[in-house]
Parts: sequence; C-alpha cells; structure tokens
Amino acid sequence: MRVVILENAQRVGRWAAEYIGQLVRQKPTVVLGLATGGTPVLCYQRLIAMHREEGLSFRRVRTFNLDEYVGLPADDSNSYRSFMRQQLFDHIDIPASSTHVPDGLATDVTEHCRHYEQQIQDVGGIDLQLLGIGSDGHIAFNEPGSSLASRTRLKALAARTLQDNARFFGSLDRVPRLAITMGVGTILEARQCLLLATGENKASAVRDAIEGPLTSQITASALQLHPQATLVLDEAAAARLEQADYYREAEALQAGC
Ligand code: F6R
Repeated sequence: MRVVILENAQRVGRWAAEYIGQLVRQKPTVVLGLATGGTPVLCYQRLIAMHREEGLSFRRVRTFNLDEYVGLPADDSNSYRSFMRQQLFDHIDIPASSTHVPDGLATDVTEHCRHYEQQIQDVGGIDLQLLGIGSDGHIAFNEPGSSLASRTRLKALAARTLQDNARFFGSLDRVPRLAITMGVGTILEARQCLLLATGENKASAVRDAIEGPLTSQITASALQLHPQATLVLDEAAAARLEQADYYREAEALQAGC
C-alpha cells in the first residue's frame, strides 16, 4: 500500500483531484468508481475547478458510485444520486447516462445488484475506485463482518454509521437503515483504489486498516490485498499510525522515480 500523508484536508482533496485529473487526461474513457460523504467533497470541488479553468473534460468518462440508501428516490435531497449531482455531475460535462448510482427504490434488489455488477463488467471494469473510510473501518457500506469476497448487495447500516451520517439528515431516526452497496470483492477488482481519510475521528480506523490484521471487522483492511491501493491522509487521520515516519520517508525517497 502507498500511504501519502499531507498537511490538511485541503491538500488531500487537491492531491486526489490532480491524480484523477491526470488519469482522465491519459485515458478520456476512464471508468471511475466514486464515493459520497464529506471526505471527497474537496476533491470534487477541485475537479470542477479543473474542468472550468483547465478544460478537463469528462465527456467520455463513465462513473459507478459505491452505494445508495434504500427507500430514497433519486431526487430526494439526501439520496446519493442527488449528492453526486450537487457536488460534481451538474458542474462538469459528463452525460447523465454515463453516471451510475444504485437505485434505492429497486423493487427486485437482488436483480438490481446483479445488473449493477454486470454494467461494471460491460464497460471493462473500474479503472480507479475512490473511497472514504467509516469511523468503524468500513469501505462503501461494508460494515464490520462483511465478507471480504462480498458483491453488490443489500446491507444494514451499523449503529455507528447511522450516528455518523445523522448529520446529513438532521436527526438519527431519519437516516435510512439499509443501503445497496458494492461489496468488498467488487471494490478489490478495481484496477486501482484511492482511499482518502481526513480528521481525527478516522485515526483509529486508518491505523487498523493499514497496520492491523486483515479482518472483516475492518473492511478497509482488505485493501492490504490490493496491488495498487493508495491511501491519502491528512495529519489528523494519520496521527495513530506507528510507521508514519517510514511512510513519509518512503514517499520522499520515491518521489520522481
Ligand atoms: C460513501 C461511502 C462511505 C463513506 C464513509 C466515510 O459512498 O461509501 O463508505 O466513504 O462512510 O464518510 P465521510 O466521508 O462522510 O466521513
């Protein structure tokens, strides 16, 4: 795993956007896996600025989001489809038909999940999967105990995640209890994974994911199995890493190689 430690959340967002922007320039038809939540917002803001100021085009890019709340229509202000429109899609030149987010109102969830996986296969797989990490160590909504071989499916959110996400809904009892989420196995098939983590409330999960054992209790630890996983952290999220100095040194030594 490559671990990049930067000064603050602003730098993390900028680093991720530059990385993604470079990929889009190299391969205009790139398939991006995208995340919602607070963490990637600064990255999306920078991508929008790169589109406006530097002509970065997403016209041929295809995207697949990690997850969606069950029971929320796409146009609900709290749906992840709405989030993506507000934070990114409505501000860049990507055709709506090239963006994919699971349908929180799917009537046959099993079939919908199978079809979502099929759509990913049909475009040749995900080139880069952007990820956040839950304070319980989850990636996407793969809560503790999720199989590390899991595929896109229905998942009940853990108490800690409901609590963490209540800030978006105004109160805990309004947070949907179920989500459709890509599985850990689905995520591991992406050619590259880019996980961003900022803030001190992520420091324990980040330490467990990078330096703890591979375990379904911390599904982000599955990235230890991925040959091309990069974790970009701010100082606060990196604060509990035992090997932080080594990661910094390794980055400095390998810069430009
Ligand atoms: C979002 C997702 C989640 C979040 C995680 C962190 O699509 O899959 O795993 O990345 O819950 O959320 P924030 O960034 O809000 O702390």
